[in-house]
Amino acid sequence: MHGWTYRRYGGPEVLEWTSLPETPPGEGEIAVRVACAALNPLDWKLREGHFRLFARGVPRGMGYDYSGIVEAAGPGVTGFKAGDAVAGMLDPIRAANGTLAERINAPAALAAPKPAGVSFEDAASLPGAGIMAVQSLTQAGVKPGQAVLIVGAAGGVGSFAVQLAKIAGARVTAVASGDGLDFVRPFAPERLVDYKREDWKAMDERFDVVFDASGSATFPECRRLLKAGGVSAHALPGAKLFLWSLWLRATAKERCLPVQERADIADLKRLVGLAADGRLRSVVTRVGRPEEVPEIQRAMQAGRNRGKIVVRMSPDPAAA
Ligand SMILES: NC(=O)c1ccc[n+]([C@@H]2O[C@H](COP(=O)([O-])OP(=O)(O)OC[C@H]3O[C@@H](n4cnc5c(N)ncnc54)[C@H](OP(=O)(O)O)[C@@H]3O)[C@@H](O)[C@H]2O)c1
Repeated sequence: MHGWTYRRYGGPEVLEWTSLPETPPGEGEIAVRVACAALNPLDWKLREGHFRLFARGVPRGMGYDYSGIVEAAGPGVTGFKAGDAVAGMLDPIRAANGTLAERINAPAALAAPKPAGVSFEDAASLPGAGIMAVQSLTQAGVKPGQAVLIVGAAGGVGSFAVQLAKIAGARVTAVASGDGLDFVRPFAPERLVDYKREDWKAMDERFDVVFDASGSATFPECRRLLKAGGVSAHALPGAKLFLWSLWLRATAKERCLPVQERADIADLKRLVGLAADGRLRSVVTRVGRPEEVPEIQRAMQAGRNRGKIVVRMSPDPAAA
């Protein structure tokens, strides 16, 4: 079997389509024939070595979201058997392997059954970006009737966040640009702001929660838009945000929340359930082929991403 790997840090040119051994699943693992794998900004940040001080070093695989069919269950695994359709994730920081491969061994504890009504493409799109959106809104304490501003609404995290905030009963203002506005419109935000035409940071309206899912805004920019006691959640945590969060706890009613995603199977199951019920709509905007991965990553790094891009790693068994 083959998969995308890299042996040194760098641009998409370091990626290699490598022949890899098929090892039996270990304790607590399932062996999965990967149907689809999704791409995330963390993939290329890891590839460029941004987290080399604490993340698994090279050589390593690429990608951490997947859907597929279980081929075998390792020792100690209950609840999964050969033939089951699943959606799941690897630990992106510690795993040596990656999901942009034809077959993987993956932790059973981070896999959820995939209902027949959810496509393999949509199932693979859920874990990384979807869990981040769930945890950001949950930690921010979004409640029915609250006013929520989501910046980066057309991206992977943002497009899930708009839908999840609506499901939570919030009134959503979504910030996007260009064709991203058309992409977000079906998710029914109460208001859409084109940030290329209107400076959202200068708006008069005030919000209970501001979620910067784009990683482009500073805390002071978001704070200006908060109601008294409001929460500003941020998808791209950094030292300044952590300092703000500590300072505010001691001095103000508002909160600054740098969100660090945790792999959480309950959150993934909730997302899968919402997708199966039709309450969470597909955000997949492109289904690529394995050989397109370097080009797709180049495009993602250049920005202007819409929803989720997934790669079809093996044919859909249902279509065979
Ligand atoms: N903390 C964590 O654990 C965690 C987990 C997941 C993701 N993340 C981070 O969260 C961020 C978003 O992830 P993603 O997967 O959603 O990325 P993505 O799919 O690339 O989406 C980013 C979106 O941000 C928008 N954007 C970029 N610059 C902007 C600006 N100046 N103002 C307003 N919008 C802007 C883009 O839309 P336009 O084309 O309209 O500009 C794009 O749709 C990334 O930085 C990612 O690394 C963090």
